[in-house]
Amino acid sequence: MNIVITGRSGQVSRALQREFGGIHSLTVIGQAELDLSQTHRLRDTFDRLTPDLVINAAAYTAVDQAERDVDRAAAINAQAPQILAEWAHERDIPFVHYSTDYVFDGSRGRPYTEDCAPAPLSVYGRSKLAGEQAVLAAGGRALVLRTSWVYSHDGPCFFNTMRQLLAERDELHVVDDQLGAPTWAPTIARATRHLVERLVERRDSGGLYHLTNAGQTSWHGFAHAIAERLAERGELRARLYPTSTDNYPTPATRPRYSRLDCNKAQALLPFALPDWREDFARCWARVADEASGR
Ligand SMILES: NC(=O)c1ccc[n+]([C@@H]2O[C@H](COP(=O)([O-])OP(=O)(O)OC[C@H]3O[C@@H](n4cnc5c(N)ncnc54)[C@H](OP(=O)(O)O)[C@@H]3O)[C@@H](O)[C@H]2O)c1
Repeated sequence: MNIVITGRSGQVSRALQREFGGIHSLTVIGQAELDLSQTHRLRDTFDRLTPDLVINAAAYTAVDQAERDVDRAAAINAQAPQILAEWAHERDIPFVHYSTDYVFDGSRGRPYTEDCAPAPLSVYGRSKLAGEQAVLAAGGRALVLRTSWVYSHDGPCFFNTMRQLLAERDELHVVDDQLGAPTWAPTIARATRHLVERLVERRDSGGLYHLTNAGQTSWHGFAHAIAERLAERGELRARLYPTSTDNYPTPATRPRYSRLDCNKAQALLPFALPDWREDFARCWARVADEASGR
C-alpha cells in the first residue's frame, strides 16, 4: 500500500512514519514540498502521488498565533482537509484526519463524547471544527480522530518545553485549572494503524472518534510528573508552582476541561488505551534511549 502522510516533522507524522514504515511504502510530504495553504496545488499534487491511503497529520497548530492569522489557519485546517477529503472520496481512497479537544468549550465537567455539541473558544478550535465537519461531509471512507495534549520525546511540545525550562529556570508557574489527557504520539499512531486497517479492509466506513490516553491531569500535574523525573536524574533546577488561568492570560482561550470519552474507539481497538502515566513512562524510556545513543 502506498501511504501519503502530510507533515514531515510533526509529532503525529513522525510517530506514523515509525508505525507504518517497513510495513508499507510511505510518501511523506512536508510543508517544504507542499504548503497546504496553497489550496489550488492540492489536487494536482495528489494526482501525481497516487496514494492508496492518505493520512493528513499536518495542521496549523500554533494555537495563540492563530488568533491573528485567521485566514491561514482556516486554509490549512479547514479548506485543505476539505479538498483532500473530496479528492480521496472521488477515488474511493481512505482518508484519515486529526482534530482536537479544543473544539469544545470545556464546560461539560465530564468526558465529552462524539455526540456532544462542539463550541470552540478559539480561532484554532473553530478552524479545526470546520475541517472535521468538511471531511465528514465529503462523504468518503474518512476517519476523523480527535485527540488532545499531544506530546512526544522528540518534537517541540509541552513535554520538551517543560523539560528544558524546569532544568534552566529558578521557578516556574503552570496552570492547574485546565484538565485534560496528555496523549503520547506513538499511541495515536498505533491506534490509527488498527483503525485504518478496518477502513482499508472495508470492515468500517469511518466517522468521528475520540482518541486520547486514559486518565486526566492538569498542565501543572503534567509538569509535576516531568519535574519528578528530572529530580531523579539530578537535573531539576526550578521550583514548580500551580497557578490559575486567570493569572496566565493567552491570546487564545483554552477549554478548562477537555477530557474526551474514547469508548467508541476503544471498542474497536485490540489494546487498551493506556493511562497517560504509563505512556509518560514509555516516553521517558525513549528519552533515556536517545541519551545513551540506543
Ligand atoms: N499538538 C497537540 O497538542 C494537538 C492536540 C490535539 C489535536 N492535535 C491535532 O493533531 C494533529 C497533529 O498535530 P501535531 O501535534 O503532530 O502537530 P505539530 O507537531 O505541530 O506538527 C504540525 C505539522 O503540520 C505541518 N504543517 C504546518 N503548516 C503546514 C502547511 N502550511 N503546509 C503543510 N504542512 C504544514 C508541519 O509540517 P512540516 O513538518 O513539514 O513542517 C508539521 O508536520 C493536528 O491535526 C492537530 O490539530 C494536536
